[in-house]
Order: sequence, then C-alpha cells, then structure tokens
Amino acid sequence: MFKNRLNDLSAKEWIKFQKSWFELNPARRPKDVLVHPAKFPEELVSEFIRFFTKSGQTVLDPMVGTGSTLLACISTGRRGVGIELNPKYVAIASKRIAESFEGAITTLHNGAVQRGTSEGKSVSGAIRPLLLEGDARQLDRFDLPEIDYCITSPPYWDMLRAKGARTQKRRQEAGLDVFYSSDNRDLGNIAEYERFVDELVAVFSKVHAVMRLGAYLTVVVKNVKKKGRIYPLAWDIGKRLGEIFALKDERIWCQGDQRLSPFGIGNAWVSNTFHHYCLNFRKE
Ligand SMILES: C[S@@+](CC[C@H](N)C(=O)[O-])C[C@H]1O[C@@H](n2cnc3c(N)ncnc32)[C@H](O)[C@@H]1O
Repeated sequence: MFKNRLNDLSAKEWIKFQKSWFELNPARRPKDVLVHPAKFPEELVSEFIRFFTKSGQTVLDPMVGTGSTLLACISTGRRGVGIELNPKYVAIASKRIAESFEGAITTLHNGAVQRGTSEGKSVSGAIRPLLLEGDARQLDRFDLPEIDYCITSPPYWDMLRAKGARTQKRRQEAGLDVFYSSDNRDLGNIAEYERFVDELVAVFSKVHAVMRLGAYLTVVVKNVKKKGRIYPLAWDIGKRLGEIFALKDERIWCQGDQRLSPFGIGNAWVSNTFHHYCLNFRKE
C-alpha cells in the first residue's frame, strides 16, 4: 500500500510531478488581472499546492499580487493567506475571490471585511482565504496561523524598470501598469542588487519563523540580465535561502510560445530566456 504523508496524490500523480521541468503557456488574462505586470498562472500554483500539501492545510504567499495563489487554494481546498503591498492589487485579488466564490471572506489590513455575493462555488469556513495589505518584511506583525507551505514569486529585482521600451510603451498605451508601484517599500524599486537580495532574504527568514517543521517553500524566480550583465538572481536566492532552509531542487517552468528576438545576432551569445526556476526549500 502506498503510504503518503505529504499530499493526497496517488503514486502515479506523485511520480509525474518529479520531472524536473514542465511547459506551461498561460492563456491571456482578463483585463482586471492584466493590469498587473507579472502574474503566475493559477494552474502552476495549483499543481505545486497539490503536491506540497494535503487538503485543508494552510498556504502562504507573502507577495500575492492579484491573488492567484488564493484562488488556487480555494479550488484545491486549502486555506490561503496572502500579503500584498499595493492596495490596488489587494482590491483586484479581493474582487476576484468575491466574484468567483460565494461566501468568500477577505479580511483586509484595516479590519474591513468583504463578503462575496456571487452565485459561484461556496467556500467552507475552514478554508476562507485571508488577504492582508502590508509589507511582507513586517509579516511578523500580522498574527499569522502556522503555515504548511509557502509559494510565491517576488519581484525579479527592478527588472520592470529596465524592460524593453517597446513592451513598456505598449502596456502604457493600453492603460496597464508598467511597474508594481512607486512605494519605496516595494522590493521592485530597490536599485542595488545586493540590497535587493538581502531584503528578500529578510522576508523569507520571517516566513521561516511561521512555517511548521517539515513544511516546504517554493520561490518562482529567474536569473536576470541588465545592461549586458547577468545577475544570477535564482542561483543567489538558492544559495542564500539554503543557509536558512534546506535547499532541495528546482523544477524549471518553460514557456515555449514566446517570440524569439535576435539579441546579439551575428556578434555574441545572448539567450532568449523563456524559463523560470521554481526553487524548492524545506524547513528541517
Ligand atoms: C511577481 S509579483 C507577484 C504576482 C502574483 N504571483 C500574481 O500572480 O499576481 C510580485 C508582487 O510583490 C509585491 N510586493 C513588492 N514589494 C512588496 C512588499 N514589500 N511586501 C508585499 N508585497 C510586495 C508587488 O506589488 C507585486 O504584486
């Protein structure tokens, strides 16, 4: 008999997840979500949540953006806890939850409680999501429950500010956000690379404190290129967080539907980077 202490998957489903890479090309997002410049797809989060938790357990995303992790938690029967700095994204996440799931309650930082009114699927009390507006670096100030799994995608340093002028111009013309915010608490606004990595590590050491022993952490991130130089953000996070958690291994998320650009053509090797690292750690 297959005894499974980690999740509710069958042995066959478990083995499928062990492949070290996967391809996922998310469908175009609805307008309200598209406003946010860098989301991860619910399918991706759901798959990781199903692997790293059992039904009814609690999942934290300390930089939850438009709430993808919270929606994935509801649809997989887990309790989601999300923190997000930008009130605009908190409002979008809150609206998405309320519209999709009847009875979903979102508790905001200021104590306001919003109740969903749609005719959607109902959410039982035990897995009602908690959405908090605030700075992830101060997550110890929130009274968080014990966390069974944490999955998040942080800002990829200040890359939104360095991105190709063409993409930014197109987004601006369409009335979409080009950066997360101008807030100086926003990690995406830290210009010095080393300081950015330090601040991120500070967030995850606070996450470590609220996680139960044996719980996993997944960080979705990329190495970044800026002005012709490579900053190995994913590898630096692997190394630095490996000093707090036990570093397990990565799953590589490949996006096969992106258009190739002729960077450095005829002159130098410059890749089109269409993969992200889903880095896995464990509190041991
Ligand atoms: C890559 S996005 C996450 C997107 C999210 N996974 C989604 O699907 O919508 C990173 C998020 O971190 C938020 N953020 C940046 N600094 C933060 C901080 N100090 N505390 C909490 N959230 C922060 C940004 O506003 C942004 O929404």
